[in-house]
This record gives sequence, C-alpha cells and structure tokens, in this order.
Amino acid sequence: MSPTSSGKSTALRSHLCGQLDESLVDQSVILCGWVGRARDLGGLIFIGLRDHVGTCQVVVEPDNRKAFAVAEKLRQEYCVRLKGTVRLRPESQRNDDQPTGRIEVLAESVELLNASAPLPLLMTDDDGEEVRLKYRYLDLRRPRMQRNLRLRAALNRSLRRTLEDQGFVDVETPILTRATPEGARDYLVPSRVNPGRFFALPQSPQIFKQLMMIAGADRYYQIARCFRDEDLRADRQPEFTQLDIEMAFVDETDIQTISEKLLQSAFAEVLDVDLPTPFPRMSWHEAMHRFGSDKPDLRIELELVDVGDLVCDSDFKVFSGPANDPAGRVAGLRVPGGTDLSRRQIDDYAALVARYGARGLAWIKVNQAGQGLAGVQSPIAKFFDDHGINALVRRLGAESGDLLFFGAGPASTVNACMGALRLAVGTDRGLIADGWRPLWVVDFPMFEYDPDDQRYYALHHPFTAPAVADAEALRADPAGAVSRGYDLVLNGAEIGGGSIRIHDSRLQQAVFGLLGIDEQEAALRFGFLLQALRYGCPPHGGIAFGLDRIAAMMAGEDSIREVIAFPKTTTAGCLLTGAPSAIDPDQLKELCIRTVSE
Ligand code: AMO
Ligand code: AMP
Repeated sequence: MSPTSSGKSTALRSHLCGQLDESLVDQSVILCGWVGRARDLGGLIFIGLRDHVGTCQVVVEPDNRKAFAVAEKLRQEYCVRLKGTVRLRPESQRNDDQPTGRIEVLAESVELLNASAPLPLLMTDDDGEEVRLKYRYLDLRRPRMQRNLRLRAALNRSLRRTLEDQGFVDVETPILTRATPEGARDYLVPSRVNPGRFFALPQSPQIFKQLMMIAGADRYYQIARCFRDEDLRADRQPEFTQLDIEMAFVDETDIQTISEKLLQSAFAEVLDVDLPTPFPRMSWHEAMHRFGSDKPDLRIELELVDVGDLVCDSDFKVFSGPANDPAGRVAGLRVPGGTDLSRRQIDDYAALVARYGARGLAWIKVNQAGQGLAGVQSPIAKFFDDHGINALVRRLGAESGDLLFFGAGPASTVNACMGALRLAVGTDRGLIADGWRPLWVVDFPMFEYDPDDQRYYALHHPFTAPAVADAEALRADPAGAVSRGYDLVLNGAEIGGGSIRIHDSRLQQAVFGLLGIDEQEAALRFGFLLQALRYGCPPHGGIAFGLDRIAAMMAGEDSIREVIAFPKTTTAGCLLTGAPSAIDPDQLKELCIRTVSE
C-alpha cells in the first residue's frame, strides 16, 4: 500500500518522511510534516518528523545557529518544512524495526510553517474516544488511523476494479427519497417547498437498484451511503457504507460467485491473504442448531449438542419440559479443560446467558469421565443416575477435566443463550483459531412469526423471493417457506446480505399481504415498484456488503468507528461538529415545523 512515487514531490517538498532509506544517503531532501517529538540531547536537537507515510529522525546541530533557534521552539504537532542531507545513523543508534531506522537527516534549515496550540489529547491509543472524536483531525494524524484510512481506500479501489472488469456499471441513486423497508427507523428531511412533507434518507438503495434492473442496466454497483436510525453498537453506525450490487438474469450461484471473487481479490490485494473459493455454505437451520447463531464464528470449534432425548424422562422438570416440547430445546456446550472454572466465573457466564433470556445455566464438572456420579460435580447431579450422567458426558464428547454447560427452554432462547456462551467461552479461553473463515448462510425461513404481535416478520427485506412456485403455494404455508436470501458471514460478523428478488407483482403483493401490508398501503408505499414489476421485469438478484465492517476486520479493529474518518458516537452524535444541533426558529418556521418541548 505504499503511495506511488508520483505523490511524493510537490512544490514544497522533495521526499516523504516515511520513505527515506539508505538509497538516499548523501542526497539533499526537503521534507514537510509534523513534529512527533523534539528532544534536546546533549546539545543536539532530535526531531521525529512525521507525514502520512511514516516518521524519520532529523538532527539539528547547534553550529547551525539559525536552524537550531527554530528547532528549539518546536513542540509536538508543529507543522514544519526542512532541508537537509540524508546520512547513515551511527551504528549504535540504528533501529532495524523502523523503516527509516537506519538513516537520519542532518538539517540545513528548519522552517516553521505553523505552530500548534497546546494539544488537548496525547495522540496515542490511550486517548479516550470522546476526545479523539472531538479532535478527530488530530487523531487521524496518527499512523494507525492513516493506515486504516488508506487500507479502506485500497479496499474500495480493489472492489471497484474487479466490478469494472466484470462489466458492472456504477450508478448513483437518490439520497432524498422515500422510505425503504430495511427494518430500521428512517431519517427524515422536511421539504420546504412541500410543507408538511418529508423525504426519507435511504436505508439502502434497494428499490432503486431493482428499478435499474427493470431499466435494463444488467449489472449495477454503487458504493452507497445508507442511513438507519437504530440502536448503535461497535459494528453499527447511523450512516454507513455499502458496496451495493444488483444483477439481472442470475440465480443465487451467480451472485455468490461474483461476491467470492470480489472478496478474494480484495483480500489478496490489500492483505496478501488467500481466501480459497468457493466459500462453504450452511443452511440457517444448521447454523442455529450447531452454533446458536445465524452468523457463526467458525474459528471456534465448539458446537452446541442436543441432549433432549437423554433428559426427556428425567425428574428435572427444567430439562424434561423443553425436551418434550416441540418448540423447546435442551443443548449442551463442552468447555475443554473447564473444571478449572471457579464458581465466580461460572456465575459470570450464568449472568451472561440471563441477558439473553435464560432462566439459569446448568453445569457439570467432569472430573473423571465414565465414572458416573462419582466422577462429576454438578448442581443437577441429583436428578441423574450413573447411566444418565455417563450418557450426557459421552454425548458431548467430554474428557476428564472438561466442564459441560446446559441450556433448556424455548429453542430460540436456548440458541441465543448458548450461541452467546459459545462465543464468550471461545474468547475467554483462547479457542479462536487464526485466519479467515467465510461462510454463506442460506435457506433462511421467509418469515418469523411473532406470537405476541400475532403476525409475520420478514427475515430479509420484503422484496426477497421465496423458494416456492407461486403466490398460492406461499399463502398455503408461509411458516414453512424458505427464502432465496443469503448472508455472507466472516469470522462471526455479517459482512453482507442479499437475495434473489421477486420479479412478479402478484407474488410481491402476496408477500406484502403476509407481512400485514394491505393492497392500499402497498400501493401507497411501493406502488411505483409494483407498477414497474409489470413492465417486463427481468429475474434479478443482488447483495450488499457492509464496507465499514469489512474494512474494520481487515484493519484488525474491533469497532467500525476506527475505519470511518468522521464517525458518530453511540448516541448518534458528531462530537466534532456538534451535530445534530438545534435549529434557528426562523428556519423551522420556513419548513412549517414546530418543535414540542416537554
Ligand atoms: P442488509 O440490511 O443486510 O441488506 O445490509 C447489508 C450489510 O450492511 C451492513 N450493515 C451495517 N453496517 C454498519 N452499520 C449499520 N447500521 C449497518 N446495517 C447493515 C452489514 C450488512 O450485512 N438492501 C439489502 C441488501 C440486498 O438485499 O441486496 C440490505 O441493505 O454488513
Ligand atoms: P434449580 O433446581 O432451579 O436450582 O436449578 C438447578 C440448576 O439448573 C441450576 O444450576 C440452574 O442454574 C440450572 N437451570 C435452571 N433453569 C435452567 C434453564 N432453563 N436452563 C439451564 N439450566 C437451568
């Protein structure tokens, strides 16, 4: 990712600080950058001069009075231009760990371009996020952030190149538009010329990219900003970026093959990592069953194991109840070597699963496998005989020294709890293998029934095609319908999602109907799409990748905020600009908006 040589020389400088090496010894250079550190050591001043590529050491000797006088005044983050000659450092001062560690620049002249006010932050990883975001322009000067920005740009470059080579056409779609149903709240923008009316910012370009297929574009892509007013976490921002793709005359395999090619090329070009293709595929059911998650982290080998058949006749009602309930599940998780867990640690895991709705967390310490009750320690031992205990130990493949956790209850709760427990145990006990583990999760149920609301919800957006023959078949068995959607999961994070779309307006209407959107409402909200589907709409499908997530993972960062130049806080604010801000009353009046204060 080194910058091209054409970028280094400008009117003010001849070379970049981070690019100096032994090949330039005895050459005269003009450098521009910021002072990382200026130290006065025994009469010599050493300056660490930094630019976007790296840092080099500059020495100012006292004999050079003019330069020395300027150098004496330098403080951290002063912006400086200097002329000097590259020379080898004395042997004892060489640092082979740094790219410029074998050379230094002996200054001839030092010019202060701009002083810096006293710094409000340390400019290290120790700075708190609040101060980093408030002074983002300083935070971004740090090598780690420069590296992240450039990595992200390299990722974009690679993705664009692959798509352009494959005949995709880059099309921009509106930001001021109507609501798109991706499941979050909309950000709204009032229209001054249409009082009382609002634009919605797009949650994704979903409808427009489908319209592009009807419009004959064949292969569309866009690096698109999306806006979702939802609860934020480390991997979610109110505005984020998708690589958005749509193709006509395709099936699932076409989209997946292109997606694999995109990621394979990007990982090779940006990280020099080989991602073998095709990526493995797993049904949603299998993922939930084995890993308790629709985005399993395959780097952790541990799996959930069903034990319902072993406990259905037990006196322990907590287990036998769900074991005999078709909607229930009793599942175990083996913790290798887990007998060393303290009561306190076990309680912490119980508190974790409680956050996901568990009523408790049963456990068995297997001190001696195969020895029945005598070989174990467990609060639920009293409910089992030797045979029962041995059967559980065997089913989970436990060895002496392992601990077994069990969750029992409604299957969805058990999956969520034990899935989270698997990740926590895997992380805490260092069981996450190195490397990249992509996975396609496929065959999602079309709908999820919410018994409280007594209605169906779509697992993907409502334009996702069901794998059924027609509208009648779908209406006959909505709960059993499988969708033609797919998610791409990488190391436990959902980095992309898409589907083959409905291209038949009757089927689209049927899906809206099942989601409780009647014909009138559908006509109001999506009438333009339903109409467009009637004009020879080609079969089509697509996918969108979360670029922030992919960039963060590539950069080894835990939060997507580290790969976004100006991110928002978890309360959806910008600490740098103070947005969102109060609005001048006159401006509100012009928009016909009155705010209500409680
Ligand atoms: P979906 O809603 O799954 O699909 O979004 C696609 C990908 O975008 C990323 N993502 C986010 N990243 C950061 N912050 C957020 N708030 C956020 N929300 C989503 C995820 C996700 O996998 N229109 C469909 C795509 C399609 O069907 O083609 C869509 O937007 O990595
Ligand atoms: P009890 O007899 O209710 O004290 O429960 C005995 C053990 O079972 C305790 O260790 C509880 O944490 C555990 N337990 C209770 N409910 C559940 C549940 N739904 N799933 C798994 N373990 C449970």
